[in-house]
Amino acid sequence: MLFLTRWRRVFTPTTSFVLRLYHMSSPMSSVGQSAPKMADKESSVESFPPPQELLTPLRVPQKTLLGPGPSNASPRVLAASALPLLGHLHPEFLQIMDEVKAGIQYAFQTRNELTLAVSGTGHAAMEAAVVNMVEPGDVVLVAVHGLWGERCADMCSRNGAEVRTITKPIGQNFTLEDIQKGIEYHKPCMFFICHGESSAGVLQPLDGIGDICHGNDCLLLVDSVASLGGTPLYMDQQGIDILYSGAQKVLGAPPGASPISFSPRARGKLARRKQKVPSFYFDMNLLSDYWGVGLQKGQPRKYHHTGPISSVYALREGLAKLAEEGLENCISRHQQNALLLHQGLQDMGLELWVKDKSARLPTVTVVRVPEGVNWKDVASYIMNKYSIEISGGLGASAGKAWRIGLMGHNCTRDNVELVLRALKDALQHFGVRVQARL
Ligand SMILES: Cc1ncc(COP(=O)(O)O)c(C=O)c1O
Repeated sequence: MLFLTRWRRVFTPTTSFVLRLYHMSSPMSSVGQSAPKMADKESSVESFPPPQELLTPLRVPQKTLLGPGPSNASPRVLAASALPLLGHLHPEFLQIMDEVKAGIQYAFQTRNELTLAVSGTGHAAMEAAVVNMVEPGDVVLVAVHGLWGERCADMCSRNGAEVRTITKPIGQNFTLEDIQKGIEYHKPCMFFICHGESSAGVLQPLDGIGDICHGNDCLLLVDSVASLGGTPLYMDQQGIDILYSGAQKVLGAPPGASPISFSPRARGKLARRKQKVPSFYFDMNLLSDYWGVGLQKGQPRKYHHTGPISSVYALREGLAKLAEEGLENCISRHQQNALLLHQGLQDMGLELWVKDKSARLPTVTVVRVPEGVNWKDVASYIMNKYSIEISGGLGASAGKAWRIGLMGHNCTRDNVELVLRALKDALQHFGVRVQARL
């Protein structure tokens, strides 16, 4: 702090002068003869002053994140991400990667060997799935019932696929019959569906889809970014070939390392590719050597990229918390709190976007904004007064809905009551008559 104050005091537009002073007083300047020369060169090249905003302490307010993600990480997860860095090939870090792999296998309920965490957020995992599986000319069928189907269709077409879609109005899910018809008609080599459509708050049942796909020589790709840990999902049992998720929802870790897994059937398609995977960064052939999930046991891991060390620690702890709580308990906690939230919202006279109770996603609830109310005013009021985030709609629900997330560490009865109270207060503030049971 003292240093920062002094720096600012001596700083003048003649930056080079200041820098020269700094270099002269630095220990480097007395080491060897070339040091002063280097300092001269650097100071003359730098034409912009250090940004003033970086000369003040980092400020991060505490907020309760009850939107569709990220959700707040638990103190245990945050503490893990502050642990000392290790080298990305140090044996201790490789051990942690193995633990992450085991945790993902548990969370996904799979024995797939090719299971790892992609460096990046949920989009990175989606991109990794597509870029490894799709080759130019492949027919891919995408189920679109919200934003995430649209995103996947976009990624597939960027990779040269012939993209076909089946669609449902926002707020509804697909029946097995819809899917069977689509697959038999379009004859795709891969079918994408989003398990938890967070833009609409819709849960897509998955039982039976794998059988339809496999009976038609088609792989099943599922997005579980917003659903994993909040609703039943069993990769092997449900015949899912490629499954990915994110760290910042139920797993309650910061975004940055995203679980993904490939079935032996999906690996077969990868092995039969005619063309190299077009992305070096997401090439599963290379990543599997770094994660030690494609090699014979005992063979050395190969450097591919520098893993996001702190994000991997945090994900490890998020997965450890899930393992300690138990998958079934975690799912039922999410289901119970979602039911409380749904009931509370309806008691206030609000309408849920998804009409069919069984199609409601427990992790993200979409609430229709009443006539004459501006969603943003309400969300801002709640943020300013309570430091709680609730979000607006996304895609087709944009401007018409709020999205309330109850995920991971945040999924508690206290938070349900807190957000209901805050919403009631905000609505009353903006002149809405709220049916009161709270
Ligand atoms: C269902 C779903 N898929 C994919 C994503 C993309 O994840 P990310 O924002 O971490 O890239 C999200 C993010 O909210 C999501 O809810």
